[in-house]
Amino acid sequence: MSLSDSQYRDLRPMIRPYIIEQMWERDLSGVVEIEEMSGLNRWGYDAYRRELLSNENSVMLAARNLAGDGPQVIGFLAGWTVEDELHVNNIATHPDYRRIGVGQRLMETGVDIGRRRGTAYVLLEVRASNEVAQLLYRKMGFNYVGRRRDYYRLPAEDAFVMKLDI
Ligand SMILES: CC(C)(COP(=O)(O)OP(=O)(O)OC[C@H]1O[C@@H](n2cnc3c(N)ncnc32)[C@H](O)[C@@H]1OP(=O)(O)O)[C@@H](O)C(=O)NCCC(=O)NCCS
Repeated sequence: MSLSDSQYRDLRPMIRPYIIEQMWERDLSGVVEIEEMSGLNRWGYDAYRRELLSNENSVMLAARNLAGDGPQVIGFLAGWTVEDELHVNNIATHPDYRRIGVGQRLMETGVDIGRRRGTAYVLLEVRASNEVAQLLYRKMGFNYVGRRRDYYRLPAEDAFVMKLDI
């Protein structure tokens, strides 16, 4: 018996079980490892720790691996709410756990938190060349609303600004 694409998508959480939860300090080394493996501009341990412990408006989520083997943290989202806005600063999935829904579930959970805090929209920047991330955001209903010249360093690159009304 072969599965259709949509049947396979429905089964993915059972094949590779995980849960999205609040990030804790003990998750930070796993978060930093994923950041380093994902080609993101570096925030590093101390910056994530500061957000987690000192910013009461931060939104810090971890995807926790429920299988008995492999890394404990398989994805994370780091953002904050400011007035009407939920700003997503970083989101990444461990390279061995991509395409099983982790990124989308992290973003959906972040959006739920933003909604509960009374924000009206989500805003984020994404490298112009990062087509995979843009596919995820577009699937979730984000629109392109701007372009920031030379926003990124190493390598220098423009950012697209993407927005989702919530
Ligand atoms: C972008 C990223 C977070 C996506 O995470 P993920 O857990 O693999 O994504 P999901 O499995 O939730 O994918 C959700 C949807 O996004 C799209 N998508 C994700 N990866 C894709 C790929 N490689 N090719 C095409 N579409 C893709 C699909 O529409 C997918 O839905 P589907 O699988 O039902 O078709 C991940 O690729 C990553 O960590 N990249 C490196 C870090 C990064 O670029 N972060 C964004 C910074 S702005």
